[in-house]
Amino acid sequence: MKLSGPFKQIITLNNLPLKGKLNDESLEIVTNGGILTKNGIIRQVGSFDSLKQDFPDSEIDLIEGEQIALPAFVDAHTHICFGGNRANDFAMRNAGKTYLEIAESGGGIWSSVEHTRNASEEDLVEGILKRVKQLIKQGITTVEIKSGYGLNLEEELKMLRAVKKAQSHTNATLIPTCLSAHLKPKDFEGTSGEYLNYILEEILPKVKEENLADRVDIFIERSAFQPKESKLFLKKAKQLGFKITVHADQFTAGSSRIAVEVGAKSADHLEATADEDIEFLANSNTVAIALPGASLGLGEPFSPARKILDKGGILAIATDWNPGSAPMGNLVTQASILATYQKLTTAEVLAAITFRAAFALDLEDRGILTEGKKADFITYETDNFQNILYQQGSLLPAHVYINGEKIL
Ligand code: NIG
Ligand code: FE
Repeated sequence: MKLSGPFKQIITLNNLPLKGKLNDESLEIVTNGGILTKNGIIRQVGSFDSLKQDFPDSEIDLIEGEQIALPAFVDAHTHICFGGNRANDFAMRNAGKTYLEIAESGGGIWSSVEHTRNASEEDLVEGILKRVKQLIKQGITTVEIKSGYGLNLEEELKMLRAVKKAQSHTNATLIPTCLSAHLKPKDFEGTSGEYLNYILEEILPKVKEENLADRVDIFIERSAFQPKESKLFLKKAKQLGFKITVHADQFTAGSSRIAVEVGAKSADHLEATADEDIEFLANSNTVAIALPGASLGLGEPFSPARKILDKGGILAIATDWNPGSAPMGNLVTQASILATYQKLTTAEVLAAITFRAAFALDLEDRGILTEGKKADFITYETDNFQNILYQQGSLLPAHVYINGEKIL
């Protein structure tokens, strides 16, 4: 057994509800605490001195100076498997160019498809690992990664194989999602409905056979896939045994409703969600994932996080890190900014990037610090947990632990 501590504060996030609003007074804070682990699992969290006394044989991982500990973060929505760069899109957008003008000058999602198709599987693995390393530095140890820049059988499999290969080179948990339904590729001869059938008939069976992903995503939007065909696609993907998640209501309202109706694990984006749909979503177990990085990247409104929580929904926050709409990839910065604009409490933000985000990925083994959970936790050199969001991402973790081992 191993005992890490003493910590000035341990913010356990234990005993908090999965749904609805949270106030900071409800946070369980253990002062002068210790975290006892065995084989990567938390055995006990409590007073460091008592744990030391009760488990005298444990190896002591002594923490120097004043540090606080909390669960490691979960980024439940990223597109960090890609080739190329879209800095020119960003510059053009800020110079007032329209979506169409950017696409016509060779930008947009399609340009990432071309660059990703031109990259080798090894190039993609390297890119993923480079970005995962950056995420780990911020205290994120679980990262969802979507395909969706391949858009044909061979290229989508290449992306998902790259994620699988990257997993064998990192201790962070990588959760792959098949987003072949990101956009109908320019070189597909047929309608969008036919392309969705191609995914169901050609891509998903292979994804399953090679065990590359058990989650399926779709971008429901005027410029991508329409509500009716998307709903049918999602139902069929579910019948094939996939869990569902949806890019919903980014610019047009209505698709979060579909996500709930098909029993999706999460509905992500929600910048344009209508009030009555917020209520519908909040009454379900579909997690509402706000992606402030996309709002900041595009200059769009933030997702209605406050209303979602007030209506009793499950709110998570993720980076959406991708080469186009959300190039930043800094979860704490984005969550802190969202908190300022949407008036979220510290407890609500911390829940949204830990156990509530983990729930969206069906990972109920992590995100809180209590007996039986995976020992992924982070420490900060500070005496007060409020400093984390206050410093808007500029305070980085002092240490990152995965499975009870200090990896940073
Ligand atoms: O989540 N909305 C659709 N897809 C991505 C953007 C991907 C891209 O621009 O490359 C998103 O924002
Ligand atoms: Fe996305």
